[in-house]
Amino acid sequence: MSVHKDVRKVTTHVLQEMKFRGQKIAMLTGYDFSMARILDGAGIDIILVGDSASNVMAGYETTLPITLDQMIYHAASVVRAVSRALVVVDLPFGTYQGNSKVALESAIRIMKETGAGAVKMEGGSEIRESVVRILSAGIPVMGHLGLMPQSIHKFGTYVVRAKDEAEAIKLVEDAKLLEELGCFGIVLEKIPADLGGRVAAAVKIPIIGIGAGGQVDGQVLVLHDMLGITQEFSPRFLRRYHDLFSEIKGAVEHYISDVRTKDFPNEKEQY
Ligand code: KIV
Repeated sequence: MSVHKDVRKVTTHVLQEMKFRGQKIAMLTGYDFSMARILDGAGIDIILVGDSASNVMAGYETTLPITLDQMIYHAASVVRAVSRALVVVDLPFGTYQGNSKVALESAIRIMKETGAGAVKMEGGSEIRESVVRILSAGIPVMGHLGLMPQSIHKFGTYVVRAKDEAEAIKLVEDAKLLEELGCFGIVLEKIPADLGGRVAAAVKIPIIGIGAGGQVDGQVLVLHDMLGITQEFSPRFLRRYHDLFSEIKGAVEHYISDVRTKDFPNEKEQY
C-alpha cells in the first residue's frame, strides 16, 4: 500500500515510513503563494523554501545575501498556500553558524512567524551544537551535506564534492552524526551516485538528493530550473520539464503586440 496516496498531511513520520517502504520522496523548492498552491495541489511531498530564493527570486549570484526576514516573508507566503506538503525552510547564511543561541532564535522566528514544519541547515560536525539546541526546542531539522552553497567562498567552485575517499568518509560520518542527533532527513547535493547510495544505506532517515544519483530516497530540484524559467544554469543532474522562459516571453510579446495594435481590450473586455 502506498503511504503517499492516503496521506492528508505529510509529516516527518510519513517521510520516515516512505523510506521504510521504499517509496521515493518528491521535493521541490517554492518561494511564493501562487506557485506553492500549484505544487501542493499536484501532490508534492516536501516544499523547500530554499535560500536559492537569493538566486532565482532576488537575482544575487550566491545564496549568501538573503536575510532571515526575507526567508520568513517567502516561507509565510508558501505556508498560506499549502495544506498537504511538509514545508521546510532554509536557515540563511549567518543565522546559525558559530552560535547555537543565535541559531535557536533564528529557528524559532521561522517556526513562529511562518507556520512552517521544519528548518534546514548546511553542515555536519561543525554545526553540531546549533543542531542539538534547535532540536531540543522541538523543531524538526533537516541536514544538508555535499555541495553546500553557503560555503562557496571556501571551495571557490560548484564542482562535484566528495570524489576522494577522505571527503567521502567525512560525509558518511557527518550523515550518521546528524541522524544520531535527531535530524529527520538530509539533503545531499552534487556528489557521486555511489556515495549517495552509500549514505542512504548507512542511515535510517530519508536522504533526498540533488545531483546525488538514483540510489537515494528522494529527489529535489530548484523549481525555476526544472520549469525552464532559468536558462543559464545547466548542470548534468538537472532535468528540465518545461521551457517556461520561452512560453512566458511569448505570452508577454503577444500582449505587447495586442496593446500596440489596439486589439486588446476588445468589446467584451470592457465595461
Ligand atoms: O536552497 C535550495 O534550493 C537548496 C536546494 C539546492 C536543495 O538547498
